[in-house]
Parts: sequence; structure tokens; C-alpha cells
Amino acid sequence: MKKINIIKILAVETSCDETSAAVLEFNKNAKSLEINLISNIVSSQIKLHAKYKGVYPELASREHVKNILPVISAAINNKTKIKDISLDKIKDIDYLAVTQGPGLIGSLLSGTQTVKNLSYLFKKPVILVNHLEGHMYASILEIQQNQIIFPIIALIVSGGHTTLVIIKNHFKYEIIGQTNDDAAGEAYDKVSTMLDLGYPGGPIIDEYAKKYINLAKNDSFEFPRPMLNSGKYDFSFSGLKTSVLYFLKKYKKPYSEKLKAKVAYKFQEAVIDVLVYKTIKAVKKFNAKTIIISGGVAANSRLRERIFEKAAHDKILAKILIPSGKYCTDNAAMIAAAAVYKILAGKVSTWYDIKANANLKLK
Ligand code: KG4
Ligand code: ZN
Repeated sequence: MKKINIIKILAVETSCDETSAAVLEFNKNAKSLEINLISNIVSSQIKLHAKYKGVYPELASREHVKNILPVISAAINNKTKIKDISLDKIKDIDYLAVTQGPGLIGSLLSGTQTVKNLSYLFKKPVILVNHLEGHMYASILEIQQNQIIFPIIALIVSGGHTTLVIIKNHFKYEIIGQTNDDAAGEAYDKVSTMLDLGYPGGPIIDEYAKKYINLAKNDSFEFPRPMLNSGKYDFSFSGLKTSVLYFLKKYKKPYSEKLKAKVAYKFQEAVIDVLVYKTIKAVKKFNAKTIIISGGVAANSRLRERIFEKAAHDKILAKILIPSGKYCTDNAAMIAAAAVYKILAGKVSTWYDIKANANLKLK
């Protein structure tokens, strides 16, 4: 027999190039809210897009269409094998959740349309989640829920976004800064291509930068720190990318491993200096009690290290929450996590309300 207090969510995320579905349970009536992630299946298309040095939207849409039902089936049956499709267990699900946007419209449509059909067919209520909201809520997957203390400053750094948000309470967001051009992850990907290191660039630049760390101490060369002293919380990474391009023009291909490591290190330090400086500045200004760093770039080992160092140096007492790497990059567990709090806040919709929106704003 089903336990009355346990609420089960099936969440779906298809905003870019990962097809993902997750099942999460939470206990509503317990003294403290408890969440339990049952499954989180991510079918990555990275290998397919690598030869195009970035996400090829049409290809991404087609892959989502192919993968979505096997991925959902794997999530509800808690199996890692994603070939067989068996949707019977949807009857045990209380709520469906889906990313409505922002993202690539063709990709979003696969997820939203599938969830719309399932919701209609199985008569399940739906929770609509903004992708950025998902990235922020990824940080609650691995903590006790009473550790969430407002106000929160959240830095979302991914392939599509570099956004600084103040969260005054659940779903009370105010964007205080964002990128004027390239997102941080996009800059990583483009610099990686310049260095012939492949796609996605973040993880490989992270690795190459580590190789340079001992030599870096005696090397005073620096790339610019864009908008570091602008007095605002906005970012810009396009000029930094151009600086790397001009720097590399002085060298002939194939670049030496040492040069690649140096550029990776120096580029990464420039990006992270700006991200860390502006985040901590916002934490002080808004007297934040919690700091969230999330999105694909939050998987970066140096960013994770530097935010703790800077907070300690500046005697910041706010708790720093950074999800494990697998919850930083796109996944459906983070969509389920946001859905928990939406259910508790009564933000529940039906199949009829589902509408993919490539430019969905955070509000
Ligand atoms: O959040 P995500 O999976 O997708 C978007 O919503 O964009 O982020 C993908 C981005 C890519 O640009 C990738 O290069 C970057 O996250 N990334 C990293 C690392 N791992 C992934 N950037 C820096 N360091 C990493 N370790
Ligand atoms: Zn993302």
C-alpha cells in the first residue's frame, strides 16, 4: 500500500543537449522536509555535438525525440539501461515536472510535449520549472532542507547563462547581474576550440589549467579581467575570448602542450577572478546568508576552490552550497528539486498550461 505522506515526482529536462528524467520522493508532513532522489537518468549527446564544436540544435531535437521515452522509462523503473520502454509505473507518480525554458526551442518541445501527453493520458498534475530555477535548486539535493537560509545570492554559470540572482524567499528572485555577451561556459568552449582541445571546453580546460599551476607562480602574464571594476554585477566574456585569440596569433600550430596549459590556466584565472569577486561583492551588499554556485561551470574545480578561499579571506559567514558535479551540468533531478518547493507553495498546473518558451524569464 502507498504511504500517504510520500509524494513522488517524475521530472523531465530537455532544454539543451541532455535528455534527462528523474524520480524524487519527498515527505511532506514530517517535522522537517525530507527529500530522496530515487533515480536521475541523463542521456548525453556530447559525443554527437563534439564534431560541430558546440550544440547543433536540429540534431539535439532529433536525439531528444529518440531518447525521451527510453530515458523516462529508465527513470521510473530505476534502471540504468535505457532501451526498453515500460511506462506502467507512471501510475505511482503524484506529479510530473518539466523544464519550460529557457533553452533551444526544438529541444524544449520534446520534453514539454511528452510531459503534456503523459499528463493528459495518466491524469497527473504538472509543475512548470524554469531551467535556471532548476540549476539553483540543484543545490538542495544533497543537504538537510533546514540549511536553506534566505537571503541567498546565487551565481548560475553555464553554457548559456552567467547570472547573479538574489533570492529573498522561495521563488522571489531578482536578477542583479548577467552577461552582456558570451556566457562563461560559452567562453570556455570557444577558448577550448582555439586551443584544439575539443568540446565541451570546461572540463578539459579545468584539467589543462592544473598542469600549469606550478609554473604559473613565475609567470606574470595576465589576460584582462573584464568588467571587474565596473561597479555593477554584470559580466562580459567576449573581449577576454578575443584577447586569447590575439595572444595565440603569435604562435604556430600545433601548439605545444605547455602553451595550451598556460593559456588554459591564465584564461581560467581571469574568468574565475571576475565570477568570485562579483559574487562575494553581492553577498556583502545584500547580507546574504547562503551562497549558491550552480550550472555546468560550477563543476569547475578551481571555481569551487576559489569561492571558499575568498569567502574565508573576507570573513563571510554565509553557507556556500555547490552541487556535486553531476548535478551542476544539466539533469532532471534539479528540476524535481525545484518542483518540491513549487508543490509546497501550491504552484501546480495542468497539461493545458504547458508551453515551451525558449526565452522564458526568471520570475
Ligand atoms: O549547465 P550546463 O550543462 O548546460 C547549460 O545549461 O548551458 O553547462 C554546460 C557548460 C559548458 O559550457 C561546459 O563547458 C561547462 O558547462 N562546464 C565546465 C566544466 N564542466 C562543464 N566549465 C568549466 N569547468 C568545468 N569543469
Ligand atoms: Zn543548464
